[in-house]
Amino acid sequence: MSGQKVCRRLEGRVALVTGAGRGLGAALALRLAQEGAHVAAADIMLDGVEKVAAECTERYGVKALPLKCDVTDEAGVEAAVGRIVEEMGRLDILVANAGIVVPGPITDIEVDQWRKCIEVNLVGYMICAKHAVRAMLWQGSGVIVQINSKSGKRGSSKNSAYAASKFGGIGLTQSLALELAERGIRVNAVCPGNLLSGKLWQEQLFPQYAERWGMTVEEVRQKYIEQVPMKRECTEKDVCDAVIFLCSDESSYITGQALNVDGGQTMH
Ligand SMILES: NC(=O)c1ccc[n+]([C@@H]2O[C@H](COP(=O)([O-])OP(=O)(O)OC[C@H]3O[C@@H](n4cnc5c(N)ncnc54)[C@H](O)[C@@H]3O)[C@@H](O)[C@H]2O)c1
Repeated sequence: MSGQKVCRRLEGRVALVTGAGRGLGAALALRLAQEGAHVAAADIMLDGVEKVAAECTERYGVKALPLKCDVTDEAGVEAAVGRIVEEMGRLDILVANAGIVVPGPITDIEVDQWRKCIEVNLVGYMICAKHAVRAMLWQGSGVIVQINSKSGKRGSSKNSAYAASKFGGIGLTQSLALELAERGIRVNAVCPGNLLSGKLWQEQLFPQYAERWGMTVEEVRQKYIEQVPMKRECTEKDVCDAVIFLCSDESSYITGQALNVDGGQTMH
């Protein structure tokens, strides 16, 4: 067990995290485990979720189930939720985190690539919510948290597929919140700022933007920090803290919200 203070606010609950093989999803799975939840970690990359699940059990003593699952494949998602209910007994929490970024100017971007971004980020969220909600309705309780983005509230230049998918995610979140409010299921979203130390930025976005703008990676990094009123990047812990709050009973009167976790960058 790590030396960190353990609250275990979610003791015994069962959580599914999508896109849990790396990055924010992996951090969320571990944090849910630290709070005492049993965790199903799903991703298209099985090796990633196998490592994350093993770490959840080793460090926090919870049950953990690694699942190879593509959120855009309805039959696969239905089977994954079925396995969770069978092996863990129930499903209390869905963290819909799986997401991709497909940047590019509107004049150049391939329609298939644009559509793929909508398919993973928006349709994938809908498919996971559909099957999680079926299990939750049966129990009469549950919590869904979508990992959205500040690009779900404000347009993003040369990143229209991503922003459109995330704006749609907020519409879906609010609609599900209304549909399920009387059934004991809360649905919220978290809108993080830029996780500049994460793999997505380090491996994909920094090199792309540096080349596009003729800048060094450090210059691009500074440009993004400058846009944040608090003058620092968003961390995985910042997002995990907000997600755990929205999963816990401390937020039992909160539904249909999209909470900005972005150092003041977006204020609506
Ligand atoms: N990184 C940021 O700065 C940032 C900012 C705001 C919001 N977000 C959101 O946070 C979430 C996680 O982002 P990240 O930075 O950790 O990205 P990441 O690329 O590091 O991780 C995404 C994970 O999702 C998995 N995945 C991709 N397609 C999938 C599919 N079809 N089915 C199942 N899993 C799939 C990938 O294999 C990967 O493990 C995304 O929804 C993203 O939009 C990220």
